[in-house]
Amino acid sequence: MERVLFVDIADVESAGVDVPDAESAVIDIPDGESAVITLKFRPVRTKANSSGQQHLAFKKARGRKRRTDSVADILKVYEMSLLQFKRLAAVRSLYLIATPLGISGRKRKVKNEIVEGCHVPVLLPNGDGWHASEVLSIKEVNGKSLFYIHYEDYNKRLDEWVPIERMDLSKLEQPKKDIKTPIKKEGGVGSSRIPNGGTESRPNTPEREIYENGSMQSLGLSISGAMKVHTGCDGFGSRKRKLDEDTDSQDAPLAPRQTGSMVSHHDDIITRMKNINLIEFGKWRIKPWYFSPYPQELTTLPILYICEYCLKYLKSAKCLERHLAKCLYKHPPGNEIYRKDKISVFEIDGRKNKQYAQHLCLLAKLFLDHKTLYFDTDPFLFYCLCEHDAQGYHLVGFFSKEKESAEDFNVACILTMPPYQRMGYGKVLIEFSYELSKVECKTGSPEKPLSDLGLLSYRSYWSQTILEILLNLKPNESGERPCITINEISEMTSIKKDDVISTLQHLNLINYYKGQYIITLSDEQIQTQERAMAKRPIRIDPKCLHWQPKDWNKRGKW
Ligand code: ACO
Ligand code: ZN
Repeated sequence: MERVLFVDIADVESAGVDVPDAESAVIDIPDGESAVITLKFRPVRTKANSSGQQHLAFKKARGRKRRTDSVADILKVYEMSLLQFKRLAAVRSLYLIATPLGISGRKRKVKNEIVEGCHVPVLLPNGDGWHASEVLSIKEVNGKSLFYIHYEDYNKRLDEWVPIERMDLSKLEQPKKDIKTPIKKEGGVGSSRIPNGGTESRPNTPEREIYENGSMQSLGLSISGAMKVHTGCDGFGSRKRKLDEDTDSQDAPLAPRQTGSMVSHHDDIITRMKNINLIEFGKWRIKPWYFSPYPQELTTLPILYICEYCLKYLKSAKCLERHLAKCLYKHPPGNEIYRKDKISVFEIDGRKNKQYAQHLCLLAKLFLDHKTLYFDTDPFLFYCLCEHDAQGYHLVGFFSKEKESAEDFNVACILTMPPYQRMGYGKVLIEFSYELSKVECKTGSPEKPLSDLGLLSYRSYWSQTILEILLNLKPNESGERPCITINEISEMTSIKKDDVISTLQHLNLINYYKGQYIITLSDEQIQTQERAMAKRPIRIDPKCLHWQPKDWNKRGKW
């Protein structure tokens, strides 16, 4: 049974894109009306009503029982953001058709109905057992339902679309009453941050698929439970921007910058789901791990093409080809502040090279989840590490850094591009960040929270750096055991004192002996350290760093 309900939006007709505040709209919905979760919409003509007002027509079908009596409720029920709603309202005469949840056309018993927020065991992609999962979204492809699921306790990058056959429906649990799991309301700035040093979930890593020149190269990552990431996301973007394929007008949308260098994002149903299928970046094809607010129209493309030099995004290979013919970049903008062998590092000012910085943030967001990207890039510097060859400078990774950090953060965000991960570049970037801190005569620490992989990399870097110092200590002149303080380690390495202490504790090196603290290293630890250092082929050579810190304080405005 379908019903048509009307939402009066005053002056939609004349409002054009500038729609009046949707909250003030009056919604005429009879009592006891049932509502549904999923929405499909298509523009149709509707007539102005008798009072000359335009209507948005919501055509509803039966589904989950829910009373709706305000725009806020409608948005909640339909899981639309106000922004989307306004966008829809801005398109004159919009007609929304709500479809029942579950498998379309078939009447299902409510207790077996798969709705968003359901919990159900899902067969892992490698067939290696079942794992508790939560259904985040449902879509239909060629008449077949697919369910976007999140494996509980695993990192979001493993989320994927699965068919019903992968679910153990005998253990299906309906969402708990009044708790709408897919939507977490934002509780203010940084509210969803994880406590210092915390990680979101286990550091499981998907067996990422990376294609070089069209051929697949599996990285064969080794952590248990490794799974292939399947992205087939429906692609709702939360921000709509025009893709101007051949012009240079790709200004990222402006979102207000909040406090801190980064702010946790609205963890809503849209940003919880991957929205880009695949990117082509230089010679690589890479499956994204997380949502990134690229323009909505790009989310339905099989491949998003990104110029590896200026980071502009394009919708087809043809557009990329045309772009490359005229792209002026062969390396990131800004100053090359480091060069040794085939490695270069460029410093980019987020104010002077705003567009590049914004594109870099968009790209990085595909692989960074725990922090949102920022469109106000002015307060940041970006350090891009490239490998160069005859073609140009290929982006390997980068980190961003606040020009001024009250908390002594020396890294805001750090990323190694997936094809280069697990080759030691993360530690090269981290080492570079500490070399900058040494020149500044400061100690520094990465901004929290760290991701699972971020924590692994920092732990590994801190351990190796501190052990390297300890192992190089010589006995004093009278042949006594060498002595060093935490402060000295911190000063020598620029690693913040707290991080030195937590690393020593993590390595279980501190012992209390005869009234004093001593550090004891086992033979095994020494050997492990020697092996680990031998595996670090690229080290930062401070002699090749040509950089002077700027006093941003004196400059007034960045
Ligand atoms: N599984 C297990 N261990 C891993 C993995 C993985 N997938 N990736 C890295 N590691 C370990 C490595 O084994 C290594 O430890 P080891 O020397 O003890 O063996 C250590 O982490 C560092 O490895 P690198 O090869 O130097 O680091 P990589 O180039 O892979 O980059 C990084 C690490 C930057 C964290 C990368 O994984 C990444 O870009 N991830 C996505 C974005 C992200 O999470 N960034 C950090 C956010 S925190 C922040 O921004 C402050
Ligand atoms: Zn370009």
